Amino acid sequence: MKMAHIIAAGLAALGLTATASALEGDAHAPEKREWIFSGPFGTYADGDHGERYQLQRGLQVYQEVCASCHSLDLISFRNLGQAAGPFWDERFENPNDNTVVMQIAANYQIWDGPNDDGDMFQRPGIPADYFPAPFENEQMARAANAGALPPDLSLIVKARSHGADYIYALLTGYGEAPEGTDLSPGQYYNEYFTGGAIAMAAPISFDGQVEYADGTEATVEQMAEDVTVFLAWASDPHMEARKSMGLMVLLYLFVFAILVYLAYRQVWANVEH
Ligand code: HEC
Repeated sequence: MKMAHIIAAGLAALGLTATASALEGDAHAPEKREWIFSGPFGTYADGDHGERYQLQRGLQVYQEVCASCHSLDLISFRNLGQAAGPFWDERFENPNDNTVVMQIAANYQIWDGPNDDGDMFQRPGIPADYFPAPFENEQMARAANAGALPPDLSLIVKARSHGADYIYALLTGYGEAPEGTDLSPGQYYNEYFTGGAIAMAAPISFDGQVEYADGTEATVEQMAEDVTVFLAWASDPHMEARKSMGLMVLLYLFVFAILVYLAYRQVWANVEH
């Protein structure tokens, strides 16, 4: 491994480098935004005692607005209570015991089975279950969305160049199509989407679309930001552990370098050179 690679890997581990190259095609490049999780010290905590209110609000927006079309296949309910997750609570060492997580899971009906009669049946969710998908299969999803497939959102922030900046810009970037744009029925104009024509109507379209449990005013921008932060967490739930490990490694290397220098001085102290 060359030194440059090692340094690049170190910086990437700390989240210091930009993730992406320019967007392809003719889409408008999204504006760069300051995120709660940006930089080597950024975390998802915004409460006085480490609470993650923004993640909780983002989860609410996902559940109430996006989940009718988009799955979140890779996230289980227990993930919500894991370290650095929206409902992380140190009182519950095992997120399966987290009462908030249990409550959220129980609000879902999960398909299970077959039972002894060979039938599939539904039961309330438990923390070990995954978020259920809104459609049974891809064909049904497409049929309900003018032929377009709403992608799974588990990794969407990692899967798009400009990551969170792009998702936020997309959610707030709907507008009048310029003269001469070709929009088929079921398509909408969004300057941040490659080609401009997207088969998703603006999902967040008016202030107060959700009523936040924590009393935060639900403006369009606030909801778009909150759900983007939630999706950023979903696509990288171990970011906080990774960053603090990166900082520890740097600290260790710094102390080690001093020790090596002192040892060098000691070894050569009595040698004429
Ligand atoms: C009524 C259904 C519907 C709802 C509700 C909905 N979407 Fe979509 N979404 C779609 C469809 C369909 C596509 C695919 C669009 C296309 O390929 O033209 C899509 C695409 C996307 C994409 C991918 C864009 C890309 O670059 O490929 C993102 C990100 C997205 N939606 C986020 C969200 C978020 C966040 C919410 C909730 C705030 C949401 N969507 C709510 C139907 C929906």
